[in-house]
Amino acid sequence: MKQIQESETRILSPDSEGLSCAREEILHGGVVGIPTETVYGLAANAWDAAAVEKIFQAKGRPADNPLIVHISEFSEIYEVAAEVTQTAKKLGKAFWPGPLTMILKKSGRIPSIVSAGLDTVGIRMPSHPVARKLIKSCGVPLAAPSANVSGKPSPTTAEHVYHDLKGKIRYILDGGESSVGLESTVVLVLEDGVKILRPGGITVEDFLQVVSTVTVDDGVFSRLDDGAKAASPGMKYKHYSPAANVIMVEGSLEEFQTYVAAHQTDQTGVLVFAGEEGGFSLPCFTFGEEKDSASQANRLFDVLREIDQSDLDTVYARVPSKKGVGMAVYNRLLRACGFQVQKAGGFTLGLTGQTGSGKSTVCDFLVKQGAALIDCDLLARGVIKRPEVIQALCLAFGEEILSNGEIDRKKLAGKAFADRSNLEKLNGIMNPPILSEIQAEKQRLLRAGKEHILLDAPTLFESGAEQFCDAVVSVIAPESVRMERILQRDNLSEKAAAARMSAQMDDAFYIDRSQYVIENQGSIEDLCREAERVAASCWGESR
Ligand code: TXA
Ligand code: MG
Repeated sequence: MKQIQESETRILSPDSEGLSCAREEILHGGVVGIPTETVYGLAANAWDAAAVEKIFQAKGRPADNPLIVHISEFSEIYEVAAEVTQTAKKLGKAFWPGPLTMILKKSGRIPSIVSAGLDTVGIRMPSHPVARKLIKSCGVPLAAPSANVSGKPSPTTAEHVYHDLKGKIRYILDGGESSVGLESTVVLVLEDGVKILRPGGITVEDFLQVVSTVTVDDGVFSRLDDGAKAASPGMKYKHYSPAANVIMVEGSLEEFQTYVAAHQTDQTGVLVFAGEEGGFSLPCFTFGEEKDSASQANRLFDVLREIDQSDLDTVYARVPSKKGVGMAVYNRLLRACGFQVQKAGGFTLGLTGQTGSGKSTVCDFLVKQGAALIDCDLLARGVIKRPEVIQALCLAFGEEILSNGEIDRKKLAGKAFADRSNLEKLNGIMNPPILSEIQAEKQRLLRAGKEHILLDAPTLFESGAEQFCDAVVSVIAPESVRMERILQRDNLSEKAAAARMSAQMDDAFYIDRSQYVIENQGSIEDLCREAERVAASCWGESR
């Protein structure tokens, strides 16, 4: 394609002179940047294959990604589509002009380059007055993809188009900032239903007002497998991506902050909701209000371009809601991230089980495998030395549990395990300070960048420590096995061991409350293999 001088790319006002310049260019086989309410398009005469070829060249667009054909009146659909179903008519009536693209069987007049060889065509009637005036005055439908360089964020202003395509096109018609900010919703039109291939300004809820079924294509929220056929070819490409690596980080604002603090370098920035900037001392970009998806849609591409111009290498982004227009925001940001979504707050696996069940063996194994341990027994040993705790325990169980001014743990255990009400008393005193210790320890580990946390707590459920866990694994074993191990390990009399056993919860207690249960049948190899399986499922294979 003939390169034109950068200075030859002109931004036209949308007055009659500008419109007529754009019209002449299009009718002479050229391409023009045009405003629409979604994003700017790069338009050519849809009947003219040679003109459409220039769109692909200017954008560097893969030839297998079809274009949308834009019309200005519903009646024009009959020239573009071979078949206009009742559902298509209903949808057109409800949502056109507006941000909806319908995929219909194409008419024989549509050149194959427009539909990238498919037998269907995407059709849209934009609501932007400048776009409609231009289409009308041209008297031909306009094939137009978004007017960005392929792979980059779609343009929402004439300046964005200029930035991407200067020197490659002659004219950009300036219609102000696009009001929606994200591209149209692309749907397959079905029998009284639609399948959303690309979410946009028309939402699931909007469609349900008009048709009875709405489904969402798998490609909207997940990466298609290599070689899989995309229902909408554009969805298979990495898209909307700034030069910096953008990563979505799931979690509360506080968890997000901790995650960023643990991972930031001097080349890191954040993409957060308006009003959240105060919590960060690194470059901050914002994309709308957390509770207002339309404001996020409006800002997203603009901010992705700002990020593209920064020299940051990594930007951590807050995760938008997927509801309403949020589905489109999420879908675009997910692609800008190349599908990278991290979970802030790591993954805490709770480990519990009956005494003597082999829980400690599992714990040692997982720590050796790299898990960061929160050892509740250890925390309890610190807590039990606190003067206020000593005082409370003496009040509950008598001074005889003291030796040399400290709590004698064995004596205390003797009392506490004597009956259930004593055990409850003990827990009532010990648990609240232990829980705050667990929380503090977890925060410390997360700040240090530890994401695979193991919370070892003999009374995980009873104490409420479960609240810090993303999943729990319980280790259980037959009573005879446990009895034998307790006798050996803790050097207890049969009577004391039996008392301790009877204070323990039964198998069902653990099975009901745990996501994973390991039944220890006696072999250490089996036990570790099971532990490995649980760890892989919680923390991933590649730890
Ligand atoms: O809001 C919009 O739709 C903007 C403005 C300019 O109208 N246009 C736009 O076009 O976003 P583009 O080319 O960037 O995206 C069109 C999407 C692509 O994902 C493409 O694969 C899909 O629509 N598409 C087009 N024709 C299709 C067809 N026949 N079957 C399935 N998907 C199709
Ligand atoms: Mg595009």
